[in-house]
Amino acid sequence: MAAPDAAASAASKKGVAPPRPSSRARDAVVFATGVAAAVLVFLGPASILVPERTGLVAFPVPGPADGPRTFYDDPDLSYALGRRVTDWDAKRAQWLRSRGLGGRNGGGPERVVMVTGSQPEPCKGAGGDHLLLRFLKNKVDYCRLHGIELLYNNALLEPSMLAFWAKIPIVRAAMLAHPEAEWVWWVDADAVLTDMDFSLPLARYRPYNLVLYGWPEEVYEKRSWVGLNAGVFLIRNCQWSLDFMDEWASMGPASPEYARWGKTLRDTLSKKSDDQSDDQSALAYLLLTNRERWGNKTYLGIDYYFQGYFAEIVGKLDAVAARYVAAERKGGSALRRRHAEREHLRYAAARNAAVRAVVPGPDGGGQSGWRRPFVTHFTGCNPCGGKRNKIYTREICEDGMRRALGFADDQVLRAYGFRHAAPLNDSVRPLPFDYPAARARNH
Ligand SMILES: *[C@@H]1O[C@H](CO)[C@@H](O)[C@H](O)[C@H]1NC(C)=O
Ligand SMILES: *[C@@H]1O[C@H](CO)[C@@H](O)[C@H](O)[C@H]1NC(C)=O
Repeated sequence: MAAPDAAASAASKKGVAPPRPSSRARDAVVFATGVAAAVLVFLGPASILVPERTGLVAFPVPGPADGPRTFYDDPDLSYALGRRVTDWDAKRAQWLRSRGLGGRNGGGPERVVMVTGSQPEPCKGAGGDHLLLRFLKNKVDYCRLHGIELLYNNALLEPSMLAFWAKIPIVRAAMLAHPEAEWVWWVDADAVLTDMDFSLPLARYRPYNLVLYGWPEEVYEKRSWVGLNAGVFLIRNCQWSLDFMDEWASMGPASPEYARWGKTLRDTLSKKSDDQSDDQSALAYLLLTNRERWGNKTYLGIDYYFQGYFAEIVGKLDAVAARYVAAERKGGSALRRRHAEREHLRYAAARNAAVRAVVPGPDGGGQSGWRRPFVTHFTGCNPCGGKRNKIYTREICEDGMRRALGFADDQVLRAYGFRHAAPLNDSVRPLPFDYPAARARNH
């Protein structure tokens, strides 16, 4: 299949070529046309000839040979909220089989799509767009190292579902667009992946469809809307999840019941002082009022920083980094061996084992110990809007974000032979061979 793909890509590149190519470029274009025409012979009926300035160009077009009809061919299927999708598990399984991807997980490791995003307009806060770029870079880095696909959305798929409600329509659409993914992993724009070595413990979540950071007794007994965090979650690509999101969205601004829900949430939940329905309160409400249906399939725990509160974390990051460096210095040169980035996961596993033995705390970090926090979430710092919650100082938010981003970036730059000159310093310096074996050579 490589030849038709190459021809198609040459042909489509030609479509955007400048209007007056130099004569050498024109030769190349004509040559590409020739290649496309030659390839056409093998493509059979699933291609069309398109007249172009320089002659006929073949574009392969999908047809019956590209697989049997699936849910995508159903004109009634809607990506938008408000139109129920039914029988999704069977439809998804049929799509996977028809594409030769086997059963539910296609036999291989469970595929994960990370979904994140930001508002359609430029940020209001000074430097907000640059900060969002750095938050995005951090996610791109993590996903590249871990074989996770990343979907960044900045469109409001349901215009009334602004701000924290905007994630529900895109997570739902991502499930339909990625039937190959077993999990969709929503990560708020203001969260930083601060342990590039940590992989999601998906095996632990096998009996569950939804994974949240939170305290079961805070949610189920104390009815607290801050007993969980809705800014980072994993949700299985299945009918249960689509039904759950329909119910969740029905408490949001797209619903005629929105105002009533605000009052119900204030009356039902503890610690909720306003009467506006928000995504996190609605999530807590659904779990505690229908525990058999929703709570039973929801993993709620704090066993590691699936999302960590930044104020607990940023003051410790420099000391955490120092402990990892010390562990590697002692850990033997095999651990420090330079390697290609694509070998990251093998070295990450070895490094985790070595660090686990000497640095207290769980893999992925937690409220106690000195392990790297998996996710540091800057709730309330509002990097795009520039207006942080008044309970936080400029130092803890602004320096905190830069410190966490730099902390993560050092782990990535390592495979390129560099690190930041210091925390909060954007300059980088080269790393010596066998870093960090010799303390003296590092400074
Ligand atoms: C959900 O409830 C069923 C029936 O009560 C129980 O057997 C099952 O273990 C529960 N699942 C989880 C993940 O708690
Ligand atoms: C950052 O580090 C570089 C290189 O060590 C140094 O020249 C520069 O002054 C530092 N910048 C700040 C803001 O500390």
